[in-house]
Parts: sequence; C-alpha cells; structure tokens
Amino acid sequence: MCGIVGYVGYQNAVDVLIDGLRHLEYRGYDSSGVALYNGGKINVYKAQGKLQNLVDELKKQDPSEIKSNAGIGHIRWATHGVPNQINAHPQTCNCGGLTLVHNGIIENYAELKTELENAGCKFKSQTDTEVAAHLIAYEYAKTKDLISALKNAVKKLKGAWAFCVMHKNEPDCIVATRKNAPLLIGVGENENFLASDIPAIIKYTKKAIYLNDDQITKITKDKIEIYNPDLTLSQNKVEFLPFEPMALSKMGYKHYMLKEIHEQPDVVRNILQDKIFDEISDIKLKDVKLTKEEIKNIKRIQIIACGTSLHAGLVGKYVMEELTGIPVDVEASSEYIYRSTIADKNTLVIGISQSGETADTITAIRQVKEKGAHVLIITNRNESMLARLSDSLLHVNAGIEVSVAATKSYIAQLISIYLLAIFIAENLGKEKSILNNIKHELLLLPSKLEAILSNASHIRDVAKKYSGYKNFIFIARGINYPTALEGALKLKEISYINATGYPAGELKHGPIAMLDETMPVLAILNEGRVYDKVMSNCEEAYARQAKLIGVANYIDDKHKQLFDDYILIPEILDMVSPALNVTVLQLLAYYIAEYLGKDVDQPRNLAKSVTVE
Ligand code: G6P
Repeated sequence: MCGIVGYVGYQNAVDVLIDGLRHLEYRGYDSSGVALYNGGKINVYKAQGKLQNLVDELKKQDPSEIKSNAGIGHIRWATHGVPNQINAHPQTCNCGGLTLVHNGIIENYAELKTELENAGCKFKSQTDTEVAAHLIAYEYAKTKDLISALKNAVKKLKGAWAFCVMHKNEPDCIVATRKNAPLLIGVGENENFLASDIPAIIKYTKKAIYLNDDQITKITKDKIEIYNPDLTLSQNKVEFLPFEPMALSKMGYKHYMLKEIHEQPDVVRNILQDKIFDEISDIKLKDVKLTKEEIKNIKRIQIIACGTSLHAGLVGKYVMEELTGIPVDVEASSEYIYRSTIADKNTLVIGISQSGETADTITAIRQVKEKGAHVLIITNRNESMLARLSDSLLHVNAGIEVSVAATKSYIAQLISIYLLAIFIAENLGKEKSILNNIKHELLLLPSKLEAILSNASHIRDVAKKYSGYKNFIFIARGINYPTALEGALKLKEISYINATGYPAGELKHGPIAMLDETMPVLAILNEGRVYDKVMSNCEEAYARQAKLIGVANYIDDKHKQLFDDYILIPEILDMVSPALNVTVLQLLAYYIAEYLGKDVDQPRNLAKSVTVE
C-alpha cells in the first residue's frame, strides 16, 4: 500500500530509486514519482499509471537535470485523491523547497488543511500527504532544522505514516520517520538507503536497521543518525537481511504467480524440515513459547486475519477443533476491531498475515495484547511489525512472494496451522495414531503437489474452455469450504470474473436460483465424511443445467457423467486435502486470467500489503 524509497550515495540516485520502486510495485501501481537533489534545488518528476510511464518521462529530461546523488521515490495506491499526476508523490510545499513521500493515511488531514490554508498555504492536490509537506515546511521555517521540524510536525498528525523528506537547504541528506507504517534503513558503503520493504534494497545491501515508531533518522552517504522522539541519539541494531536477490527473479516463468505456484513443493519441504523429523517424533516449534501448562489452560482460540490469510484461518478452525478439542473462532481483523471481543489470559490469539504488515490485523492484535491473551503470529516476514508484536512466532518461510495474489504463502500458512494444531494436541496428550497419520500425510505432500503441477496442461485446457464465462460458483463442504472461498477469491482477484464460494449445502438456500447453462459450478470433492453430500449437491446443479467442474481425488463411474470436466488430484487424507485442492484452483485462476490477457501479477485496484485500515 504505497512504497517509498530513499537513496544517498555515490551512484546515480534515479537509477537506484527506479530499481527500488520496481521491486515495490506489489504495494501499489497507480502512479509514481521521484524527487532528485540537483545543485541546490530539488527536481520532481511524476507520472500517472504504471512505473514505466515515469521511466519514459525521465527519458525525456535533460540528463544533467536528473543527475543526482540523493533522492526519494514513491509508488502509489490511491487513498485520498484520484490516481493522477498531481496527486502522485512526491508532494511539495508552496515554494518547492521541501518535498516528501508518504506511505500511510493522515486521518486528521481535513482539520490541518483548513488551519494551513488560513495560514496562507495553497494546496494543489487532493491528497492527505500534501498537508504533511506544508506542515513540515511551516515548522522548518521556524527552526531551520529538518529533524526538529519533522518531530514537531508529526506531533500534530493522527494516523499512520512513513515519510522520507528532503529540503533544498539540506544537501545530500534525507530525513525520515515512521509510525504504524514500515520503513527500514539499508546500510551500504558510501551509500545508504531507505525503503518500505527489503526487495527495494536487497540488490545493494544485506544489512538493515529497523526504525521504531516515532524515531527519526537522517541519512547521508556515509552516516546514519537515529533519534528517539525526545531527540536523544539511539543505537538501533544492524540486522542481516535473509533474502537473496535471486528470489526476485521470474526464473523463466511468464509471471511471478506461476513461478510461486511451482515453488510450493519446496516451500512445504522447507517448512517441515526442522519441525517434523518423522511421523512418530513430536513436533518441534522453537519460537512457540507456550509451556505445557499454558497449553493445558487454553480455553479458546481466536484466529484473526484478512484476505487469503483469513481463508487459511478458516481451515485452521476445522483442524484445531478436530485435533485439540479447543473451540476456535475465526474473524476478519477489520470486524474484530469494532466489537467487544472476549479474550483473556486463557485465550490463544493467532494472527495470520503473509506480510506481517496488514493494518487491520495489527490494530486487532494490539487490542488483544492489552487483554492479556497470548499472541501467536503466523507470518512470512519475521522482521515485520506483527512478528515484533508476537509472544510466539511461526515463520512460514515461503520466501519473498512478489505476485499480488497470494499462493505459496497460503500453502505455507496451511502447513504452519497443521503443525501448530498437532503441537498443541501432542502437548494435550491427544491420541498419537491420529496425529502421526497427519504427519505422515504432510511428509508426502510435496511429491503430491509435484504430481498436480505435472498435470498443469490439463488444468490449462479446462481454464481455456471456461475463460469466457462471466460468473462462477465454487462449492465444497467441511474443511474444503475455505478452499472454495479461496478458489473464488483467486479467480476474482486476477481475472475480474464474478466468483463466489459457498458451503455446498447452502446452494439450495438461495444461490441455486442463479443456476443455468451460463453458470459453471466448481465442486471440490474428497473421499471422506462429506463426499456423498457434495455429490448430491452436484446432482442438484446438474439438474439445473449448470456446467459442472469437479476437483476430486476420486469420482466413481456412475457419477462421472455429471461433470463436464474434472481434475483429479492424488489420494490424500481429507484433513490435509485443502493444500492440494487449492493448488488446482490457483492454476485454474492463473490460466483463465492469462488466457484473458490480464495483468496477473499486478491486478487492478489491489495491493499486496494493505497498510491502511
Ligand atoms: C491484501 C492482499 C491479499 C492478502 C491480504 C492480507 O488484500 O491483496 O492477497 O491476502 O492483503 O494480507 P496479509 O499480508 O495480512 O496476509
């Protein structure tokens, strides 16, 4: 949700900034801009639309004007103001002396705007960000010091922000701060960086410093100063960044999404590697800090998450309740925040988030911490804000996920949930044979995922056949109901086809009215408790002329004629089957979107990490 970068050093700043923004495109892509310090003035360039438009704009400029050793850049996901050139960042004060980029939302911008207008400021954009540019410039006029100007200005703001600020009177330096929005400092040699996220800087350095809320930093090419809110100096730890630049390559695949789906077998191997050794040994989760005693005292579990992570949480409910016997509630973070939720020291709250940055989930988790619940975070980013708020951590270790639509991180979340549920069940002394059977299935999962991926051409053929339909229904029962939701979400996100997931038994309570030959119904069937029931629902859909697609590990001969198409997955225990079924649905959504020529990795209106509530 907006990405920011800053650079001061020996290289041409514009090249580093554009490269950094390219790796932050997953955070927004409706407009972009850079500000470059150039001989006592700051030149600002902005463009509406994809980053390439900014690159094209820069090519038209006089090279001596864009030559610079210090600059800031921004890629936008619009919140306040339409995505046009004027609303793009950087935003500047009236005289153009101060310019800044911002990630976040200034909630009290309307009041501040009125005050600043009364003080003579002229606003050009519709953004909340421009308020900050005027306000900091106003404070700078009083103190002539950018650090104290920033400190005084942010005291008046409400909301969330990461700012990188430059002033024409402060050559070759950037001043930055953050509150409830990510910002890290990349530590280089003869150069230093600022960025919303690691991919923007990993090519240049593997060392980073994380800023705490309200700290202010000033970077030059050979110095990094960090100030606490009272302006005393701070020594934040330099951390080693875990990623390889290689993780950001498409490795020959047409899209990151396809590459990331194909990485899933290895993602599962990775996550299992140091946690399950064989099917009879107990699971080891080194960063889960719950003692046996605390586990015995857990009376309820609450899972909080958004989007795809929420669907992983829903699978978690089925798994946890079945294996541990503890009641589990699952809720969208944005709903959890605004009601009187009941949590206490006997509640285990599990926050699930790929990015660890989702604003709704952060707010919900902060609320819960005040109630004394034990907070366990499942995330792909163990340096993230949510990870830092956790009492216990499960790092899903899926590697950087670039495509906006989550795929490999979802599978990794599912595996983490199975591991956690077994871990709790083992500590509660539950029946070993059931738990060992699931561990056995998890260990076999990578090769079964490989079998599905080797059948991708069949899934592509089915996708092509259905790519012309405007609506889709996904149905399943039991533990695959969340798979139906996730399959529908994937299709919506990247192809813009209207797809909805339903519990199969609910079809007859309304959605059945929509069925005719224009409405494909995709049914997920797994041999087990609910197989016959879902098959009956398929019969009902067939009787209404709906096109039926089956995703199943088994379809008996007498039912095969119901299906226009079916995709068979390997034999698998019902409880573990969501991990296989979802892979089929990810591929189906991918190939439909690809066939329709959609922008698969950067679907319209979406951002990968949503840092506003
Ligand atoms: C955005 C993304 C989704 C993601 C959701 C939650 O909406 O587009 O793909 O599932 O945020 O993100 P998180 O990082 O918390 O899992």
